Amino acid sequence: MDNRPIGVFDSGLGGLTAVQKLIELLPNEDIIYLGDTGRVPYGGRSRETIIKYARQDIAFLTSFDIKAIVIACGTVSTTAMGEIENDYDLPIAGVVLPAVEKAVKVTKNKRIGLIGTVASINSRAYDRLILERLPDAEIFSAACPLLVPLVENGRINRGDIMIETAVREYLTPIKEQGVDTLILGCTHYPLIGDVIGDFMGGEVSLISPGAETAAFVAELLEKNGISAEKGRIATHRYFVTDSIEGFSSAASLFLRQDVRGEVSKVDLHNF
Ligand code: DGL
Repeated sequence: MDNRPIGVFDSGLGGLTAVQKLIELLPNEDIIYLGDTGRVPYGGRSRETIIKYARQDIAFLTSFDIKAIVIACGTVSTTAMGEIENDYDLPIAGVVLPAVEKAVKVTKNKRIGLIGTVASINSRAYDRLILERLPDAEIFSAACPLLVPLVENGRINRGDIMIETAVREYLTPIKEQGVDTLILGCTHYPLIGDVIGDFMGGEVSLISPGAETAAFVAELLEKNGISAEKGRIATHRYFVTDSIEGFSSAASLFLRQDVRGEVSKVDLHNF
């Protein structure tokens, strides 16, 4: 039994799609969330910069007495996790492995689509893990640099010409390949799941890495004997690196519920 919080971070608000599922699956767990909203997006930056930012994010989270770290960011999971995961004496979960496990389970024709940030696609981290599990799979991927800024600006709804145009542009070549599974390889993308689903068609399974990671975290806590006491009331705290103004309304879209918990601004320069 361990009632210490789980530390979760993302470059921005996308990681809240993982928090939403964590709250649902693990209602007794305290959560400390960091969204580096002052520096989002990470996805177009160099590997060195992404590693540096990830270390600062983790240094901030470990300034609290946390029991596990969830990298709720596709970009950090694909690009920095391998480099930094052994530097901390805590269980760490990223979003890539849980998404891959799900994708290889649901695909029937072994034609898998993958979208993500430039850094995530260039890392080929998803491809490697898929092919280790399913050597004859074919993976069709596209970097989608405009999707995160559109999502962070609330352009997420059906009928929004900007998001619909961007989705069509990025996904047409993948759709033409006849994939039956599409990994939304960035934790921001489930917010536009409706728009993507409409475009791809109902027969294509969409995989949300954040949601898959929550189940993985539940197992990780269980395995390490560090789950929180059942029945306790959990507290959630949110930290951002840019203004907290507007955070609650934007965050509630990702969480699919009101933000319940304190929201604070933090400066990561000293971390
Ligand atoms: N949520 C991040 C990810 O999953 C956003 C990408 C970014 O910061 O560029 O990749």
